[in-house]
Order: sequence, then C-alpha cells, then structure tokens
Amino acid sequence: MEQTKKSGFNSKLGVILAAAGSAIGLGNIWKFPYETGENGGGAFLLVYLICVLIFGMPLLMTEILIGRKAGKTTFSAFREISGNNRWQWLAWLSAFTVLILTAFYFIVTGWCVNYLYEAALNTYAGMGTEDLLAHFTANVSSTPKLLICSIIPVLCTSAILWFGVSSGIERLSKILMPMLLVMMILMVIRVLMLDGSGVGLRFFFAPDFSQITPAVVMEAAGQCFFSLSVGLGMMITYGAYMPAEQDVTATSFQVILLDTLVAVLAGMIIFPAVFAFGFDPAEGPQLVFVVLPAVLQQMSFAWLSGVVFFLLLFIAALTSTISLMEGIVASIIELSHGKLNRHHSVLIATAVICVLEVVYVLSLTGVWGGLQLFGHNLFELSETLVTTFLMPFGALAMSLFTGWFMPLQEHDLVPHSKKRYKQWLRPIFVFSLRWIVPLAIVLIFLNGLGVLKL
Ligand code: PHE
Repeated sequence: MEQTKKSGFNSKLGVILAAAGSAIGLGNIWKFPYETGENGGGAFLLVYLICVLIFGMPLLMTEILIGRKAGKTTFSAFREISGNNRWQWLAWLSAFTVLILTAFYFIVTGWCVNYLYEAALNTYAGMGTEDLLAHFTANVSSTPKLLICSIIPVLCTSAILWFGVSSGIERLSKILMPMLLVMMILMVIRVLMLDGSGVGLRFFFAPDFSQITPAVVMEAAGQCFFSLSVGLGMMITYGAYMPAEQDVTATSFQVILLDTLVAVLAGMIIFPAVFAFGFDPAEGPQLVFVVLPAVLQQMSFAWLSGVVFFLLLFIAALTSTISLMEGIVASIIELSHGKLNRHHSVLIATAVICVLEVVYVLSLTGVWGGLQLFGHNLFELSETLVTTFLMPFGALAMSLFTGWFMPLQEHDLVPHSKKRYKQWLRPIFVFSLRWIVPLAIVLIFLNGLGVLKL
C-alpha cells in the first residue's frame, strides 16, 4: 500500500491520460487497421464498435474499481476483496498473459524504432509499393537489427519506471498524446486529398454484412480487449493509483472515447492510402509499416513528418509498454512481500523481458528461423493466444468476479456529489457484468470455435 500511495497519480487529467496512454498504442495504429483489412473492412469496424459498447465500459470500470477498492495489484486485490484465495489463479493467469503480451509487443515496438531510425536517415524516401514491401521483409529478417530495435524500447521503459509512476508516465502522457492526435488529423487530411481515396473510405466505413462471420466477431472482440487493455488486470494496477474521489464512470468513458477515436483515425489514414497506392488491405501485420512510409512521403516537409510521426508512434507504444511493465514490476514487489523495492523489481522485470525478446527474435529470424507450432511462428502464436483466448477469458472471469462477488456501493461508480442523477448506473453495471458480458463472451467463443452455430 505504501508503495502504491507513493507512486499514485497527481491529477485527474494525469490518470485519464495515463490510462488512455496504456490503451492507445500499437493496438490502435498497427493492429486495428490490419485486422480490419483482413476481416472485411466496414463489417469489422461495425462489430468492433458494438464490442466496445458491450464490453468496453463495464470491463474497464470493473478493473479500475477492483484496483481502487483494494488499492493493490491483481495478486492481493482478488484476495483482499473476496476474502479468500480462490481467485488467485486469475492473478497468475493475468501475469502469464501480461508476460507473453509484453514479449510480442516489444517486437512490434522494435519495428517502430527501426522505422524511426530509417525516417531520420530518409531511407525509404522515393520507394514505391513493391520496394516498401520488400524493405519490410528485409528489415524483419535481420537478427541484429531486430534485437537492437526491440531491446532499446525495453530499456527506455525500464528507465521511465525506475523513476516512478507519476513523474514518468504522467508528464510524458500530458504532452505527447495531444500531439499524436494532431499529427494523425493532419495525415487524414493529406490522405483524403489523394486520388482514389474514396474507395478506401468506403471499404472502411460501409459495412458489407455478408462479411460478418463468427470468426470475424471473435477477432473483433479480441481486438476490443487488446485495444482497451482490459482482461488482464492491467487497469487494476492503474485503478490502485487513482485518487479516491475520481469519477470512475467518466474516466472510463473518456478513455474509451479517445482509444476509439485514435483507432478510427488510423483507419482513415491507412485505407484511403492502401487503395490510392495499390496495396492489399489484407496484407497482414506488415500493412501499416508499408503504407505509412508511402503516406508520409506525400506530406509537406516529408522528412520532418516521417520523423515526428514515427517518434509519436514509438511514444504511444511506450506508454503501453510502461503500463505492461508497471504491472509486472508492481506484482514482483507484492509477491516479494516488500522484500524487493521498486528498483530491484524493475531490474528483474527488465532482465526477464530481455531474455524473452532474444527468444522471440531468434525464433523469428535466426537460429530457430523456421520454428512453427500449429502452423504459426512464436510471434503469431502469442498474438492469437493472447488476443483471441487469454484476454477474453480473463475478461469473462473478471466480470463474474465483480458481478457476483464484489460488494459495490453507489459511490464506487459515481462520486457523492453527482450521485443523484446517476442512480440508474449501478443496476445496469451489475446486470451487464453478471449476465450480458459473460454470456456474450461465451457465445462468441463457442460460435467462433464452431461448437455452436448461431
Ligand atoms: N492497449 C494497448 C494497445 O492498444 C496494448 C495493451 C494491452 C497494453 C494490454 C497494456 C495492456 O496498444
């Protein structure tokens, strides 16, 4: 508790920005566009937005509330609230999920570092569609490049965590998140001026209902959990840092709005450009990394725009890796019963993640190059496992925990001052956690796996 209090956030805006910083990241700018491109464009967007509505609010509020009530990380929070050890498996499952997620997240952050470096050297200037595709493949097959590029963000994240939560995360988020939004809006404007951009907009916004399959729904739900950082207890840690008088409902709403806005803006940059330059929307994980350089070359002050954009993307990724690693660090402190301090546990977390990065990079490029499990490499396997299975499952467990086992007072959701006009909130919140969220997740799972035919 001592540790938590010491590293708590200083202002309400700080919490919103830090939670939004955790939510907004590569999930919005890298994953969302390529998932949309692979899963039918507008149809995916529609299902995604519905998932955000059904799952986003209750789950984000749940995690923040658990954290704030217990004032701790997952490990003690479940025990503290339920009064027994029966939920500890969920804390361990979350820790496992966070570790795998962190490992593959740093690989993609490494791609950003690589493109930032290349933007600074003007490497991709003048490259056409084919060259950009070949260039990406060359980049991700180079072991030393990938290793260096993914270790750099690990070290940056550790350095920020070393100095504590409020001084690091809060200060950074306050300046950079608004900058990212402005830069993205400028890019949308430029892209919409390209010939043929209308086709891309239609692809992104006009749903073709025949594309909505059980698999697409499952992907969209997974993307929703991933993008909002819910389902692995990450926001429990942030909730623990949140001032008691802060309005959980309003904060969650603002975070979700910002997160969705950034994802939609990313789609509005990528898809018009995909069609204008002749890329394939179903290009997969490399989509954004081949399309963005093409877009950035078209901007005025192309070199500067490239450097600024990749720098902001890198920082958006960092605010997410900070939250992931903060979760690991806080858990180590708590599991050691205070024997390890913040600095020790930052060092341990850094060492573990560096080892994981080496394993992931080698399995992708080097010694274990062709290693495949169930037809996927380690990177793809982790991504699918985390997004499609572990996060939805964690979300299911978390909603049942709060819905059925956590006593909730009216003022947990809304501060006393606003209580009167928001009395309807609690019954809806509890009902959706008890019934709607769990049933929807179970149905999506069974339907997506083909066990049930809806
Ligand atoms: N939500 C982050 C993103 O969109 C990823 C993330 C997931 C971060 C879970 C923390 C916890 O990039």
